[in-house]
Amino acid sequence: MNRLLVRILLVMTTLALTAPFADAQPAGTNYDESKVGSYTLPDPLKTGNGKAIKSGRRWNRKGRPAVLALFAEHVYGRMPGKPKDLHFKVVSEDANALGGKAIRRQITVFFARGDSAPGMDILLYLPKGAAGPVPVFTGLNYCGNHCVSSDPGITLSTRWMRNSADYQTANNQASEASRGTHTRRWPVEELVARGYGLATAYYGDLEPDHEEGWKTGIRTSLQAELNTRPQEWSAIGAWAWGLSRLMDYLETDPAVDARRVVITGHSRLGKAALWAAANDTRFAVVVSNDSGEGGTSLARRNYGETVKVLNTSFPHWFGPRYKEYNDKVDQLPVDQHMLLALMAPRPLYVASAEGDQWADPKGEFLAARHAEPVYALFGKKGLGTDQMPPVNQPVGDTIGYHIRTGKHDITVYDWEQYLAFADRHFGYPAKGTAAQPK
Ligand code: GCU
Repeated sequence: MNRLLVRILLVMTTLALTAPFADAQPAGTNYDESKVGSYTLPDPLKTGNGKAIKSGRRWNRKGRPAVLALFAEHVYGRMPGKPKDLHFKVVSEDANALGGKAIRRQITVFFARGDSAPGMDILLYLPKGAAGPVPVFTGLNYCGNHCVSSDPGITLSTRWMRNSADYQTANNQASEASRGTHTRRWPVEELVARGYGLATAYYGDLEPDHEEGWKTGIRTSLQAELNTRPQEWSAIGAWAWGLSRLMDYLETDPAVDARRVVITGHSRLGKAALWAAANDTRFAVVVSNDSGEGGTSLARRNYGETVKVLNTSFPHWFGPRYKEYNDKVDQLPVDQHMLLALMAPRPLYVASAEGDQWADPKGEFLAARHAEPVYALFGKKGLGTDQMPPVNQPVGDTIGYHIRTGKHDITVYDWEQYLAFADRHFGYPAKGTAAQPK
């Protein structure tokens, strides 16, 4: 075979391996870096009256609230507060879960008065024998708490589920066969062995993920409690709000160190995790996994998914005004680097995948990069490079980043980086505690 042919075949194979899901790509999707277009990013340090913000204190007092308000108004919709009658019920406890290595608690959070109020079920695993309160990873799941582990003690969700062979769901319901169908995305054993807890809840407890989902989700059922009309916020808003209610519970659990909670999320739930952490500074470390457009990647870059495609495919995800920018993203008063700036000075980790070009890995890297000036106000170092690192070579200090090989997913490799990042920032595990690294 001549060398040219070999090269063509190689390029074709690489494209086939790295292309995002074909059905997600409308015709005209740009994957050519030379066609991204030029753009000017709004300066987070000049939000408000245009006067440059020069200190962390001023950022917290002026810049941060102004940027947050812009995201609520133009992107995600309103974020309601904590309902006054919020209460919790521990519904089950197993001191010998996961072969005796963990404690499992299941908790229902009721968002209003009474035991039949709308609510959300939390699944919490804690390492057994910890010397004191432990740090916890938290994030919503796609398929019900029962899909996170094969632990038979987990309550099977009866909520609406997307029909999927992956989750073993049919007629929009889970069944016994659905248990443990997503364990590969949730390394529970590894987390507890490393001294971390895990707290998760099903995102469908807050709002079913379809266009009509708001009618049966909290945006409708909690209208009176939250004094908010469903159209004023969004599905991502509802999921993010739920993460803050999960945090409300964690603050009450003496086995949890609520000052060391890492919020994580993959893809659309990465978008939700970012919006939650932007609003709620109780989350100490923020991790975005392949969150893409409307998450970590820059809206102004025309590469992979665009704001218009996102709003067309998922009209329920964002707030009412985001669609106004479908054909004029350059007029958005914010871009996603400013969402990342709202995490400052907290440690933030952004992860991309080489095979997830739909999410625009370079746009994700650049958003992290352009959040750095806000981190610098607090004396915090960011990525330490202005060049995208090679695959599987994490970079960064207070802002971490990697692009791994493989497709749109959350993998063991991703979790390993998040654990190392959390260990580093928490100085964990401390010497002499029961939980020691392996
Ligand atoms: C679609 C969508 C993305 C989203 C992803 C996911 O691909 O276009 O914006 O992140 O779904 O949530 O898996």
